[in-house]
Amino acid sequence: MTTLKHITKLAENDNTILIGTAKTDFSKYGLSADEAAFVKKQIAAEEKIIPVNQYKRRLVIYIAETKKHAYQTLEAYRKTGNKLCGMVNGAKLESVTIVDLIGNQENTLALAEGMALGNYQFLNHRSDAKKAANSLNTINIYSKKVKATDIIKLQIVIDATNKARTLVNEPVNYLNAEQLAQEFQKMGKEAGFSVEVFNKAKITALKMGGLLAVNRGSIDPPTFTVMEWKPNRPKNKKPYVLVGKGVVYDTGGLSLKPTANSMDEMKCDMAGGAAVGCTLYALAKANVPVHVIGLVPATDNRPGMNAYTPGDILTMHNGMTVEMLNADAEGRLILADALSYAKKYEPELAIDLATLTGAAVAAVGKYGIVSMGTADKRTHDALKKSGEHVYERLVEFPFWDEYADLLKTEIADMKNIGGPIAGAITAGKFLEKFTSYPWLHFDIAGPAFINAPYDYRPKGGTGVGVRLLFDYLSNVTH
Ligand code: BES
Ligand code: MN
Ligand code: ZN
Repeated sequence: MTTLKHITKLAENDNTILIGTAKTDFSKYGLSADEAAFVKKQIAAEEKIIPVNQYKRRLVIYIAETKKHAYQTLEAYRKTGNKLCGMVNGAKLESVTIVDLIGNQENTLALAEGMALGNYQFLNHRSDAKKAANSLNTINIYSKKVKATDIIKLQIVIDATNKARTLVNEPVNYLNAEQLAQEFQKMGKEAGFSVEVFNKAKITALKMGGLLAVNRGSIDPPTFTVMEWKPNRPKNKKPYVLVGKGVVYDTGGLSLKPTANSMDEMKCDMAGGAAVGCTLYALAKANVPVHVIGLVPATDNRPGMNAYTPGDILTMHNGMTVEMLNADAEGRLILADALSYAKKYEPELAIDLATLTGAAVAAVGKYGIVSMGTADKRTHDALKKSGEHVYERLVEFPFWDEYADLLKTEIADMKNIGGPIAGAITAGKFLEKFTSYPWLHFDIAGPAFINAPYDYRPKGGTGVGVRLLFDYLSNVTH
């Protein structure tokens, strides 16, 4: 864990990062005449990250650039933060002080954010964890524009993102549906939101036919976790409902995935659920005045002896029937029950997050979240804005009625696959049938899990969705 600290007095010998521009006079900040001359030369050579050799401390100067859009500048700061994190760990330093000589609150925080997010490691299962652990553990922040409360909030969001990453990185033999629900319970206790876990009997009583069907090939029972963060004086009358796909492992069921490649990363298939739980965790910890419900249906998807079978007709929580033609299209089945269950809350807005389709990966890759739904344009645009701000960008897909035609079948109300085209959209159209309130669907299959580091996102679970939802929900007015 990386601790962020607000400081108001500079200690001379702390390892330091000075943020300035090409015009900043750095000589006042503990540089000798030689060092100052060296820095000037480097600036003239258009170097942006300038390490200065000093005996008493490590010093790096960051010549910050402003991009065309403010959100691009923020991202440049995060990326630089990650680079500096690498330098700091390379030098085996434990703490570093960021000194903002420009006077920009958001940019300075973004630098710290990139450092702390880049400093994440998943070492739970390594015997050499102590040795392998990064040295960096404390980031001090010195800026006239940054308040102590800003840093507390940033720390909460970083911790919640890293928690989501860890949940995603834990494999199914350490984190099955019941264990995932237990993790949510722990988080609720710690942060102060309520958590109720429905067991298989309750799920059966609720007639969640989608979740039960997917679970049939599994030895472990399913869970359905209901989380609620209800602050004292919430801004909203009707709650925001977040729904997260909690497939703790996706083998494809009887429509088995080819083992060599497409199954290897399928422990990530609960990334939506992790994002939902960790968003509530952050909202509660930061005492954000918004009433939010989180729903996570969870199970693994396996081809066990009694596995649901292509051709099966399922009756869902809302009474609709589904002809199941591909056991690998399981996410929409468990989400459908949760979206139908969400109706009882009369949501202001419901958002589901799911690693739902390979089609979303093919379309935008790790660079974006595929989004679609029935919420009004203003709401969708506000989320897109948050998406740029935290750099978890939304790509809005068309959501025309014609796509729903691809789900037609003669023997049930719909089938669970749409055919070879527009796979991300037909999955969304399937979900739409279970909603009766403003709703958005975020397909995070691309950005949820990466097999190589990508800037401040280390390999593995990225925690995508937490920063986005926290930013959006922190800014809603009703
Ligand atoms: N969990 C997968 C989608 C996925 C793919 C997530 C790649 C992360 C990375 C989902 O359950 C799935 O298997 N979708 C199928 C749907 C198809 C059978 C209609 C797909 O996209 O191939
Ligand atoms: Mn699947
Ligand atoms: Zn899946």
